[in-house]
Amino acid sequence: MKFFADTAEIADIQELAATGLLDGVTTNPSLIAKSGRDFMEVTKEICGIVDGPVSAEVVALDHDTMMKEAEVLRKIADNVCIKVPLTIDGLKTCKALTGDGTMVNVTLCFSANQALLAAKAGATFVSPFVGRHDDNGVDGMELIRDIRLIYDNYAFETEILVASVRHVTHVLESARIGADVMTAPPKVIKALFNHVLTDKGIEGFLKDWAATGQTIIR
Ligand code: E4P
Repeated sequence: MKFFADTAEIADIQELAATGLLDGVTTNPSLIAKSGRDFMEVTKEICGIVDGPVSAEVVALDHDTMMKEAEVLRKIADNVCIKVPLTIDGLKTCKALTGDGTMVNVTLCFSANQALLAAKAGATFVSPFVGRHDDNGVDGMELIRDIRLIYDNYAFETEILVASVRHVTHVLESARIGADVMTAPPKVIKALFNHVLTDKGIEGFLKDWAATGQTIIR
């Protein structure tokens, strides 16, 4: 499963990229606003840090303006992935862009039928939002199971990009189901590395090692 960071914070992206485990980045208008940075500048900077897809979202609601915005965004770098909302105009834009080889991430997907439409529109990625479903008392991971089943039934190549990830259990469940990608806030990705028994184990090993008085580098 690929790991994308859901953020526009450069320091976090640099820190995660340095692990060699970061496969891409997703941004959205709210994350750009939170960064306080210029959209074009910060997106270009992110594209220079990671080799994989960097999602940059259009803000227009009509197809013609979405196409114009996409034209501007895709000039930022070769690894820009145009993010469009799951609407009729968004899917028209998706079809047009993927038809000429541009990566597209269809966002704000909340039903399996919407995911089916995104695949038919040739989306590179579809982003079902699990956390926002959970917030409303609906099991977000059930949506991922449905989409996996449907995409496998028809061998759709659209990658399932689990979005709105809130905690490490979402990541584990995504991997169990066989999602292609998950995008999570940096704090969730960093939490994946932690286990109290790992910390305790290191502490014990180092205590015993110190008692030997040895060093590895001599
Ligand atoms: C996905 O690409 C979105 O940017 C993101 O995952 C939304 O998450 P939220 O529900 O935490 O805002």
